[in-house]
Amino acid sequence: SGGCPVVHTNGSSSKRASAPATNRNWWPDTLDIEILDQNAQDVGPWLGDFDYAEAFSELDYHALKEDIHEVMTTSKEWWPADYGHYGPLFIRMAWHAAGTYRTTDGRGGASGGRQRLAPLNSWPDNANLDKARRLLWPVKQKHGSKISWADLMVLAGNVALESMGFKTFGFGGGREDDYQPDKSIDWGPENEMETWDRFNENDELENPLGATVMGLIYVNPEGPEGTPDPEWSAKRIRLSFGRMAMNDEETAALIAGGHTFGKVHGANTDDHVEAEPEAAPIEQQGFGWKSSHGSGKGADTITSGIEGPWTGDPIQWDSGYLDNLLNYEWEKHKGPGGAWQWKPKNDELKETVPDAHDASKKVDPMMLTTDIALKRDPIYREIIERFQKDPAAFQDAFARAWFKLLHRDMGPKDRYLGPEVPEEDLLWQDPVPAVDHDLIGDEEIAELKEMILASDLSISRLVKTAWASAATYRDSDKRGGANGARIRLEPHRNWEANEPYELSRALMVFEGIQKDFNKSRSGDVRVSLADLIVLGGCAAVEKAAADAGYDVEVPFEPGRTDATQEQTDVESFEPLEPTADGFRNYMADKPAQNWKPEEFLVDRADLLNLTAPEMTVLVGGMRALNAVHKNAEGHGVFTDRPETLTNDFFVNLLDMENKWEPVSEDKEIFEVQDRETGDVKWTATRADLIFGSNSRLRTIAEVYGATGGEEKFVHDFVDAFSKVMHLDRFDLA
Ligand code: HEM
Repeated sequence: SGGCPVVHTNGSSSKRASAPATNRNWWPDTLDIEILDQNAQDVGPWLGDFDYAEAFSELDYHALKEDIHEVMTTSKEWWPADYGHYGPLFIRMAWHAAGTYRTTDGRGGASGGRQRLAPLNSWPDNANLDKARRLLWPVKQKHGSKISWADLMVLAGNVALESMGFKTFGFGGGREDDYQPDKSIDWGPENEMETWDRFNENDELENPLGATVMGLIYVNPEGPEGTPDPEWSAKRIRLSFGRMAMNDEETAALIAGGHTFGKVHGANTDDHVEAEPEAAPIEQQGFGWKSSHGSGKGADTITSGIEGPWTGDPIQWDSGYLDNLLNYEWEKHKGPGGAWQWKPKNDELKETVPDAHDASKKVDPMMLTTDIALKRDPIYREIIERFQKDPAAFQDAFARAWFKLLHRDMGPKDRYLGPEVPEEDLLWQDPVPAVDHDLIGDEEIAELKEMILASDLSISRLVKTAWASAATYRDSDKRGGANGARIRLEPHRNWEANEPYELSRALMVFEGIQKDFNKSRSGDVRVSLADLIVLGGCAAVEKAAADAGYDVEVPFEPGRTDATQEQTDVESFEPLEPTADGFRNYMADKPAQNWKPEEFLVDRADLLNLTAPEMTVLVGGMRALNAVHKNAEGHGVFTDRPETLTNDFFVNLLDMENKWEPVSEDKEIFEVQDRETGDVKWTATRADLIFGSNSRLRTIAEVYGATGGEEKFVHDFVDAFSKVMHLDRFDLA
């Protein structure tokens, strides 16, 4: 165990025990599209009728910071503050809120304020952070909806650092609160807490997970699998923090900076600790981890099960952590909580730290296996030695890494709110240049559409290029999207999903059109490549709809600009590569996860913030437009009129004249045969047939495949396509 309090499964009698089984109990293998329902409805109390940015603009930000500071330095009898200061506890709360972020799918992170909800509110690693949030309740109550919990938890971490002598890099608000757990986040196998059944034989962590242990935010403090092995621990830290978007320097700065403050709590073994919040009795009102050891609080607190402070002054920013770690030899032992921890050899540093609750007492400092890892790993060691010699470099590295940690899941800087947003643009914010010209208006848009349609780019190519550009967007961390036209830069332009050769030819045509258009303007109007690529998709959809007999206009908002390669961090964009994209019927040879194509499809639909009907109409439309990846060899294009925006995909999928036969051993590829003659009409993948097989998706497909359904299909497709093209346009809001 990580030395953390155990999780209690609730075996008590309750209505749940006799509640009806859910469909998921009955048919666990049915494709889970419920995650898309989260994109369809707002379950919170606001019902969509709330603009957080507007509410935040009315916040008295500086008064709020003062209020947080006041709470932090006013010890409460019900949870006495160590050293009279809740700062370290608040830093840990902010860190655990943000540290669930992982680059793999952009999910997790501080947005949503998910630490208030299960499972995070009850993860062993979040033990006693319920107290931190409850301490902040009077502040939250006072400022109401002008500050979200998500922002408040993060800001409290900043105020804590500032109150203990650290200069932070800044703060951007704008994280909205969730009112239900995010069902789309795969936290790993959830049958049991504190299991690490998520590594393959090469010690590689399963994708998309970020944490190495269930119920912990990152790694086990005692060492991997509870083994006090600092070298192995360093590897796990590198892996887990790497997935948190942190390089070695940022990782070392974060751990060293964070553990400059506070202490760990393990006054006794966790046998004394009762249920976590989600399983605790009703009279505890959301509090968990009630402890029967002594007073259960203050000096008797059991949190991680490890005990002791790191530095001589745990509520002051200084180099105490680095000095203690580097200047002394440390040896492992089992502390009072029964967990592995480290103490200075030869009784050095004995009784050098004031006790957290008794001014007349002194205690010994300690280190975690993960702290010793920074000293044993040669790369981390070189970094922390440099930090020790150069405190200003340490201060700067921690300030920047902390800021990145807290804001990594917020997307572009346009989304940051408040008076403390730093001026400096940071590469990980994926900056794009500001618009420095007049934008194209209706007349120019019409002119450009004509130029695009007169080029030799097909409907299919235009739609695929626009899709490839826009659909890198992930609503999880608001990264990707068409703005910046990064599709023409590394690494996007060489992604297999984007058909690099065909893409480069299409980009040449677009560049030609852009040049001709911009040259022909006498005023300041210009078009960016980013806008042109999206406009190409819109023009193609309109043409394909017209060919099917529908006169539609695809909503288009200009204003995107073209990023440079220097503004594009190649490595940080790599996790955005689609190794499967059911919308284009694309599947890489080695996809990132061992999932079925339809599972990838739903996952991508969720990252695009789509509902189940939007996903359905988009797939039907993309197939009709023949916008499938070339490797798919026309799978799913169930029509005799490709590149025309018809509802043929649904009509033919639902047609009982057809039957469907698997033709590959793995049942991934199918033939659509005429039921009577056996003639092969089309071929399909699982990402096509799921719309006929899954009962919920079939109900939607039937709407679009019925007589009279085509007009609705065309309009719904146009809306969903335009939505995807504009997902990253935070500048418009
Ligand atoms: C406390 C582990 C990284 C900030 C703790 C505790 C553990 C722990 C076990 C004790 C909790 C308790 O018993 O109260 C780790 C591990 C890390 C890590 C294994 C990574 C390898 C960080 C980072 C930060 C941070 C990156 C912030 C930047 C803190 C603070 C406390 C703390 C301020 C003290 C809380 C208090 O005094 O109540 N950490 N931590 N830690 N951690 Fe970390």
